[in-house]
Amino acid sequence: VLSSEEDLYRPNFHFTPKKAWMNDPNGMFYYNGYYHLYFQYHPDSNVWGPMHWGHAISTDMITWVEQPIALYPDELGTIFSGSAVVDIGNTSGFGKASEASPIVAMYTSSKKLEGDDNWKQTQSIAYSNDEGKTFTKYENNPAIDNNEIKDFRDPKVTWDEDRKKWVMVLAAGDKIMFYDSKDLKKWHLLSDFGQGIGGHGGVWECPDLFQLPVLGTDESKWVLFVSINPGGPNGGSATQYFVGDFDGTTFKMDKDFETALNKEHNYWIDFGRDNYAGVSWSNATKKDGSKLILGWMSNWDYAQVVPTETWRSAMTIARKVQLQKNNNGYRLLINPVNELTNYRSTKYKKESITIKGDTKIIDSNAMDLASTEIQFNISNLKHEGFTFNLTNKQGDTLAFGYNHSDKNFFIDRRKSGKRDFSEKFADRVSMAKRTSLNTGLTGTIILDKTSIELFFDNGETVMTEIFFPNAPYDKLSIEPNNQEFVLDDIEAHKLNF
Ligand code: FRU
Repeated sequence: VLSSEEDLYRPNFHFTPKKAWMNDPNGMFYYNGYYHLYFQYHPDSNVWGPMHWGHAISTDMITWVEQPIALYPDELGTIFSGSAVVDIGNTSGFGKASEASPIVAMYTSSKKLEGDDNWKQTQSIAYSNDEGKTFTKYENNPAIDNNEIKDFRDPKVTWDEDRKKWVMVLAAGDKIMFYDSKDLKKWHLLSDFGQGIGGHGGVWECPDLFQLPVLGTDESKWVLFVSINPGGPNGGSATQYFVGDFDGTTFKMDKDFETALNKEHNYWIDFGRDNYAGVSWSNATKKDGSKLILGWMSNWDYAQVVPTETWRSAMTIARKVQLQKNNNGYRLLINPVNELTNYRSTKYKKESITIKGDTKIIDSNAMDLASTEIQFNISNLKHEGFTFNLTNKQGDTLAFGYNHSDKNFFIDRRKSGKRDFSEKFADRVSMAKRTSLNTGLTGTIILDKTSIELFFDNGETVMTEIFFPNAPYDKLSIEPNNQEFVLDDIEAHKLNF
């Protein structure tokens, strides 16, 4: 019998801190065989409070080993979100001859001022000469002072290879500010982007800017991530993106992208409720130019009251980001990193199943459904769609699938288990309108004890959600939305960690 929160809810393979509160991923970089993940951390409690940077390392972005806290609050404030780069050319001068390249972190120092809702946010630097284990704060912090703008945070630094300089994006209320620097210490304001553009249902946070090749072409484009809270497509926090060009000074949306955006704002890296503040690893671009990202797998709507006490929150699975262009214009493709396939073991496979009523696919006798990766393919979509049901004997159900009549993917967690902790939790999410031109549909499903990650149409539509069943789900079935159809193939892998 699984009873403790540890047994029931500690994810099998998604990163969680051993104890206490975690939110955004921070300072992600790759160096010398290790992926580093820092994170917004409040070590003294299981709710948000004075922020530190926690730290974890991994050789493959899947299995993580937690490290000592990397950054503690100081007289300039608590340590909000930010980024880190490997300063290979020692442009900062923080490196020492004969040692490894310095790691330079840039983060927001956030200091509470008199009054309820008032703080001073400035940008600070810290550097590491031991590959990210320990950091020394820069003596001239803050590197960017600020007395005017209330929300002024989350610096993300990137190396601009074309112009041989550092570029930094920063969220400032309802816009993103662009800066550049030669030495990571002196920063110059270049431009801003975003007022009146895209989603503005809340404050803009945690931006990222990077270049991506357009698949199958010689062209490349710049992508700008902007997290927003609230104002996500399904309520609360979510991350939107823009595709365009960056000339070293200004970011301009691509014309076609802009037209499509103005018609329907459908550019979210995830349409589920639980993927926020995701950004890319620096110094980790793949040979094919794709980027690696990971996000915080929760939502500010209820993150602080989910039913775990020892720790709160997990990260998403690490994901690969690519850019495609078709008649629909530009679209990101986001999929789990290939490294996950190294953990595959038991395989289950079925082909050409005609689905008339609720049909069992697999149960927990055949495979643990909380450590599973599933691929499916439906080549003929001339029917009304399908619903997968994850169930247990306690009567909990997590339903997800696709409704062809309104072209919406959905996740329904209204009966998924514990849900009384927040009135904003038990919902059916269905804003993930399908844009793919394919006649068939493919999907990848990643299941852990308390999360589902869905990647449809080769990563064109992604949905991530958390849930808290009263007992582990022990059966996965599929049913038609009114009309029978053929499930061409489905393949499940138990993941062993
Ligand atoms: C996003 C965010 C950031 C901020 C951090 C504070 O979730 O609000 O803007 O730096 O969390 O923990």
